[in-house]
Amino acid sequence: MTLAEIKISIKQLLSKKIESIELNSLMGILIEEVTGWNRVQQVVEINTPLTEAQINNFNSYSTALLNDKPIQYILGKAWFMGRSFMVNEHVLIPRPETEELIEWVVDYAHIIAKPLQLLDIGTGSGCIAISLKKALPNCSLSAMDISAEALTVAKNNAASLETSIEFIEQDIIHQTTLPQVFDVMVSNPPYIPIREKINMEAQVKNYEPLIALFVPNEDPLVFYRAIAQVAKKYLAPRGQLFFEIHYDQGKAILQLLDEMNFHAEIRRDSFGKNRMIRASLK
Ligand SMILES: C[S@@+](CC[C@H](N)C(=O)[O-])C[C@H]1O[C@@H](n2cnc3c(N)ncnc32)[C@H](O)[C@@H]1O
Repeated sequence: MTLAEIKISIKQLLSKKIESIELNSLMGILIEEVTGWNRVQQVVEINTPLTEAQINNFNSYSTALLNDKPIQYILGKAWFMGRSFMVNEHVLIPRPETEELIEWVVDYAHIIAKPLQLLDIGTGSGCIAISLKKALPNCSLSAMDISAEALTVAKNNAASLETSIEFIEQDIIHQTTLPQVFDVMVSNPPYIPIREKINMEAQVKNYEPLIALFVPNEDPLVFYRAIAQVAKKYLAPRGQLFFEIHYDQGKAILQLLDEMNFHAEIRRDSFGKNRMIRASLK
């Protein structure tokens, strides 16, 4: 079987499920993964016969795509801020909107222009903490998660991307002490009310860790309240909180933070949605 033939067979299998522009891009990624050929080589090698092992790989990857498995979990890696992060079923796939939160923190740190101590709460793959450390090498970074499995992934990413980070296994809701005071706390916490699960794409709800996504319907701001409570004790004077938020929870979080004695401002992402909040104690 040649590359041309396997492309036709994958298209036949997946074209009802995945629209054609996305499918072409996914196929390019898969072919590169299986054969090692870049996009130019994929054209040159179009009539080259594939090995049996390569054909088996194509078959198992396309079956996984047919079953809605995200390409990032199939390949075990995701791109974030120009770097490749290992991902598996224990961590959220890093999202582009989170890159905008990091840019806001980095801009703030550049204005302050001194070494800061930063804490990332709910670190998952470690994408926020590691990207911040890369952008702010003079700052020190700690990263917390409740999930030991997620922390294993984050530690692996920190090692392969050569960043030094202090990892903490902790439940921010129930364990409210921290090892030290921080100048900046940043978090992309779980924030999707569980009732929204029914309307979510199978790719997300069937594969991404539930613990990373969902909060109770009756208390969707539970993480923001818990983090703000911890911040009252462990945020340094003039310290800042940075949050990623659900686009329709902005007003409610601003009100919560105001009631908890924080000044807060909201920021839109590049799609014009309320996606980030920055807060400091009044
Ligand atoms: C939305 S994910 C964010 C992951 C990563 N920071 C990112 O932006 O891609 C939320 C993370 O919070 C962690 N988490 C959930 N409950 C937690 C808790 N009670 N205490 C600490 N971390 C928690 C999850 O394991 C998950 O890694």
